[in-house]
Amino acid sequence: MTEGPIETGPRPPEGLRVIGAADVTATIEGNREGALDAVRAAYLAHADGASSNPHSSFLRFPDRPRDRIIALPAFLDDGAAPRSGIKWIASYPGNVAHGFPRASATMVLNDYDTGYPYALLEASIVSATRTAASAVLGAQELLGERRAGKVGFVGTGLISDHVRMFLRDLSWQVGEFALFDTDRGNAERFAGVLAADGPDAPVTVVDDVAGAFAGADLVVVATVAGTPHLTDPALLADAPVVLHISLRDFAPELVLTATNVTDDVDHAVRERTSLHLAEQQVGHREFVHGTIADVVRGDLAREPGKPALFSPFGMGVLDVAIGGWVYDEVAARGGGQLIGDFFAL
Ligand SMILES: NC(=O)c1ccc[n+]([C@@H]2O[C@H](COP(=O)([O-])OP(=O)(O)OC[C@H]3O[C@@H](n4cnc5c(N)ncnc54)[C@H](O)[C@@H]3O)[C@@H](O)[C@H]2O)c1
Repeated sequence: MTEGPIETGPRPPEGLRVIGAADVTATIEGNREGALDAVRAAYLAHADGASSNPHSSFLRFPDRPRDRIIALPAFLDDGAAPRSGIKWIASYPGNVAHGFPRASATMVLNDYDTGYPYALLEASIVSATRTAASAVLGAQELLGERRAGKVGFVGTGLISDHVRMFLRDLSWQVGEFALFDTDRGNAERFAGVLAADGPDAPVTVVDDVAGAFAGADLVVVATVAGTPHLTDPALLADAPVVLHISLRDFAPELVLTATNVTDDVDHAVRERTSLHLAEQQVGHREFVHGTIADVVRGDLAREPGKPALFSPFGMGVLDVAIGGWVYDEVAARGGGQLIGDFFAL
């Protein structure tokens, strides 16, 4: 009998497919409903244990305290396909002053059977998309409909812009918008883009943060605050649903008045998030009522008359869900660039 390579069973991928921003954007812009579905399926699979989502790992620098690069590895089996990979995302807030975005990212997807990487994607758009999709999923589940009389935005940067595109493309009915940003010029630019979206919801740039909350059914908080600056309980007096995407804005006292929903309690109650500060103050986590998967399944509802705070930590399973979905779409049409001789085989 001759010995040789085994010819059946798993084989390495045909190469490494590199997918740039244009292909990623085209896929997502054509189908934000599909992105929302992928995020919902990922949350449910994660809640069922069909995932592995280690804590993210932060690379920091001794002499660049504002900057960081974060690694988020994850595995997810949402029933469509087993997906594994890693997002490697840099946050350099100083970039913005030089005219280009704070965050840049790549994602590697690995073959489930052989471990071989088969795709390298531009991932800042994947990342912003999964963040906005998860927030807007939280909004529709907590409000029970795709409708809000007034939507407030606190922080009108890139992530808020992706939330805006989801609200638009998922045909939300919004009565009016109120925008607050510590950089008024950013809010004014955002107002222009919102107005161009149409149809005709009035858009107001407000002078203080209270104006974004007053009478709002839904408030999107996406700033770059590292410590709580929302400290007045009156902000939540009208019991809005708040998408607390930037995680560190609310003082613990306000957190404790709300129905608190997150994506994964172990992930979100750490790293000095508002949930973490609240835990440190009261010595337990019972004020976190559950996860977005609980809300989607109907096992957790918002308490009438109380504000609801959705604080999604942002999980790697969402990145591989969106990245994998984008890959499938792009590869099916032969897009990206396939490097056939990438591996040492
Ligand atoms: N939870 C998640 O999954 C997740 C994922 C991605 C990003 N984020 C977070 O979302 C936040 C926003 O990211 P981005 O890319 O939109 O940033 P960005 O820099 O594009 O925009 C942030 C905006 O917030 C404004 N701002 C800063 N402090 C403010 C304050 N106190 N009040 C009002 N406005 C203020 C800035 O002027 C800017 O316009 C960041 O904190 C980021 O870490 C969270």
